[in-house]
Amino acid sequence: MNIAIVGTGYVGLVSGACFAEMGINVTCVDIDSAKIEKLHQGIMPIYEPGLEDLVLRNVREGRLQFTTDLTSCLDDTDVVFSAVGTPPDEDGSADLRYVLEVARTVGRHMNKYLVLVTKSTVPVGTAPKVRMAVQEELDKRGVNIPFDIASNPEFLKEGAAIKDFMSPDRVVVGVESEKARELMERLYRPFTLNGYPILVMDVPSAEMTKYAANAMLATRISFMNDIANLCERVGANVDNVRKGMGSDPRIGKHFLYAGCGYGGSCFPKDVKALAHTGIENGYPMRVIEAVEAVNEAQKNIVFEKLLRAFDGDLRGKVIAMWGLSFKPETDDMREAPSLVVIEKLIEAGAVVRAYDPIAMEETHRRIGDKITYCKDMYEAVIDADALALLTEWKQFRMPSWSIIRKAMRNHVVVDGRNIYDPKELQDNGFTYSRIGLK
Ligand code: UDX
Repeated sequence: MNIAIVGTGYVGLVSGACFAEMGINVTCVDIDSAKIEKLHQGIMPIYEPGLEDLVLRNVREGRLQFTTDLTSCLDDTDVVFSAVGTPPDEDGSADLRYVLEVARTVGRHMNKYLVLVTKSTVPVGTAPKVRMAVQEELDKRGVNIPFDIASNPEFLKEGAAIKDFMSPDRVVVGVESEKARELMERLYRPFTLNGYPILVMDVPSAEMTKYAANAMLATRISFMNDIANLCERVGANVDNVRKGMGSDPRIGKHFLYAGCGYGGSCFPKDVKALAHTGIENGYPMRVIEAVEAVNEAQKNIVFEKLLRAFDGDLRGKVIAMWGLSFKPETDDMREAPSLVVIEKLIEAGAVVRAYDPIAMEETHRRIGDKITYCKDMYEAVIDADALALLTEWKQFRMPSWSIIRKAMRNHVVVDGRNIYDPKELQDNGFTYSRIGLK
């Protein structure tokens, strides 16, 4: 089978490499010629564990190719995936410009039946717009070529993208015809052979599933952050509460960690878009709106704790920051809580010395020299008044507190991810605060 995947971002590139690994012939397309040129040279546009090896092997073995020109492969393609970006508009709704442009390009150049599958996260009701965009172009050409549209949302997590794609909890596919169902089932057969379920449904339900799943996960996080903040005020320990709650199988133990707020390319964007869909349809999503509001507030929490530690005056204070990316194992800085904390610290007159194992280049690209970038975690704490942990990279878990104590001039530690043992910090003479517990 031959497929094309338009958009070589996280989802597009990972999907392309994984389909190729299963023996499918894949063409990855992107309008960004610099990106495609780099991919031709074997340079990955993103950091994702295992991706480079997978891409290089499949290119070498001839199952994976890259091009800027979708039209060049359409005649041999059974399925075209659209995995382009859907950035939020100012009002929080998803911007469909790129998704519809792919549909128009397909309509302008297709010469035989194919299925156009939307893999990007798009609001419910996008599929008819995609269909219409293709049809309008076919009408302009005066040709009548049958095609199908389908929805196939992607649930992979950054940092574990390949494992998630290869061993999915489920594959969700929305279709409108028996022919499209057969093609999609065939395409995913190598994955479902391993026992992973494929759930074929109607298109609006598939579109909705993605938003509902992400919004539910984001809800768990905001809920726990709310509980954590209350725990602090009533003298409870959110870690104990989490374990106590999570032991109930109806609640489950995953995704209940309080912290300094969720970030990334999906949760913030999808929560906003779902809230917007609610308003558009005359049904404001009150839970979802609260989830977002709680998260916005939570992104300030590390800053507020630092402010409190220095009696409301951070002028001239040096803050060491460990971790910048929105979560470990990625260089993705989109909606990272660290950016909010940095902004607030600078506004308050503090100086930031940061270290992140992977995300410093990307941070520099975004905020330039507003902060000092340090060569390792110990350099970051030199002469610092406080250390703030924003991302729980493994290498930050067991630092040498005696070295850090000597290097710092004041001894405050604010832990945005609850990873340290308070006794150990106390024994080393630090004032330690974390989220939702003493
Ligand atoms: C998420 C979904 O998990 C994935 O299914 C979807 O396809 C895309 O969005 P991702 O954005 O890669 O994936 O990140 P994820 O690992 O889910 O973490 C999101 C954010 O939540 C991170 O900022 C993380 O630190 C935070 N988080 C996660 C918590 O604060 N507490 C938790 O218990 C779990």
